[in-house]
Amino acid sequence: VLADYGISPTHGFLPDVLPLTRLPDPYYNKWEAVIANLQGLILSKRLRGVVDRLPVLSTIGLEHDAEWRRAYVLLCFMAHGYIWSGDSPSDRLPPSISVPLLEISEHLEVPPVATYAAVCLWNFKPLFMDEGIDHLENLASLVTFTGGIDEAWFYLVSVAIEARGGPIIPLMLTAIAAARENDSAVVTSCLATFAERIDDLSTLLSRMHESCDPHIFYHRIRPFLAGSKNMADAGLPNGVIYEDGSGTETYRQYAGGSNAQSSIFQFFDVVLGIEHRPTGEKKPTAESQNERHARGRAPPSNHNFIMEMRKYMPGAHARFLGDVQAVANIRDYVEQHRDNRPLVVAYDACLSMLRSLRDRHIAIVSRYIVIPSREVRARSRSPEATRSGIAKVNLATASRQPAQRPRPTGIAYHPDDNTPSQQDGSAPAKKNLTGTGGTALISFLKQARDETGEPAIQDW
Ligand code: HEM
Ligand code: ALA
Repeated sequence: VLADYGISPTHGFLPDVLPLTRLPDPYYNKWEAVIANLQGLILSKRLRGVVDRLPVLSTIGLEHDAEWRRAYVLLCFMAHGYIWSGDSPSDRLPPSISVPLLEISEHLEVPPVATYAAVCLWNFKPLFMDEGIDHLENLASLVTFTGGIDEAWFYLVSVAIEARGGPIIPLMLTAIAAARENDSAVVTSCLATFAERIDDLSTLLSRMHESCDPHIFYHRIRPFLAGSKNMADAGLPNGVIYEDGSGTETYRQYAGGSNAQSSIFQFFDVVLGIEHRPTGEKKPTAESQNERHARGRAPPSNHNFIMEMRKYMPGAHARFLGDVQAVANIRDYVEQHRDNRPLVVAYDACLSMLRSLRDRHIAIVSRYIVIPSREVRARSRSPEATRSGIAKVNLATASRQPAQRPRPTGIAYHPDDNTPSQQDGSAPAKKNLTGTGGTALISFLKQARDETGEPAIQDW
């Protein structure tokens, strides 16, 4: 059954067939050549010219899904490199990218942008084939914008988490079946194992700090992951035109790449009965629910970002989440067996572990986005920086500041802040800091964290 959804019982949402390191058909050599030289082309500002001269290749030479996935990865990196590497962002993608990318997206049921699937799920290789892909030490990324370890590490932490989390999927499907058969011992033991595993994933998440520097992340990597939705401040007011030569194309807008597009965390939420409300919506009290009912009003339909992100997952994975949601019974089962203490303890432990993982994640977001963005604003406000047009260098942190390193010339810099001027969140022009996915970062993440604890059976 899992295979029908493109899910592996051992690797979860990572493909069962390892990502290809190269398209086998030499017809695609030009795409491979651009990608093999991506960093250099971006730094020397030659990427756009090279891509404009590429022929429009057909998808006819793509056979197995692994080949389609490799092609998707290549074109997504090319597309985001193209959009974000000039003096200002490009609001058009030439037919050499858009024609094949749109076909491939349709075939794979993913949007034509650098999704989590493009940069993480389908973009890794094990260093040694006989060692697992759930060890960070054994992983490498296939394609990056910067060629640096920081960027690869940022993607690979997620890959390792997906791999280590994969076996939780069959485990919790067993728990659902056991709850249906009223086998509380099996439900309890599955939940207890699940709680331990989440703790394991938290440990992996914390390893982000080991090899991904927050400044490099914020200034060098993150700009390329930006999308084309709500990006007016970054220089893309209308979105991006995917040229197909017809002359009738219209602007498209997509969210940028974000781990919120990972199916594994949504699976955890669904299986545990955690519900995420639209951003900003408070937990309904019994009173407010009755009131709404009495007035015959539907709940407010604000934008539900987490549900929206399912559109950015490979189609089969999103369908899997919907189907699991339809049969998820663990929360109700535990509720109906409240006096079974080991069962309640195991269930509540899962919530509490997942909550603490989300706490760790918030700390990461603070260190990797909030703090660097404050530094940028502080520097751009300093009179010296404004007068001279040169950023004031903080000597205490200079050795870790990418501003001190040779700058990639392919990226447009705001004169006052040493930051790519087009980047979502990092440019001083942007008033509200947002995630690449488009959320208001911390308030969104805190709400998601708090919702994680809400179904708990007991007050601990
Ligand atoms: C959501 C930042 C690493 C899992 C988000 C969001 C931000 C963010 C800003 C809000 C959505 C948006 O607007 O994009 C970061 C940063 C990271 C990082 C700066 C590292 C430097 C990770 C990793 C994982 C992860 C390694 C796990 C694989 C999630 C999940 C969400 C999310 C599941 C959706 C919200 C939730 O379910 O609580 N992240 N993230 N993130 N991130 Fe991360
Ligand atoms: N979603 C992450 C960010 O906003 C990657 O930077």
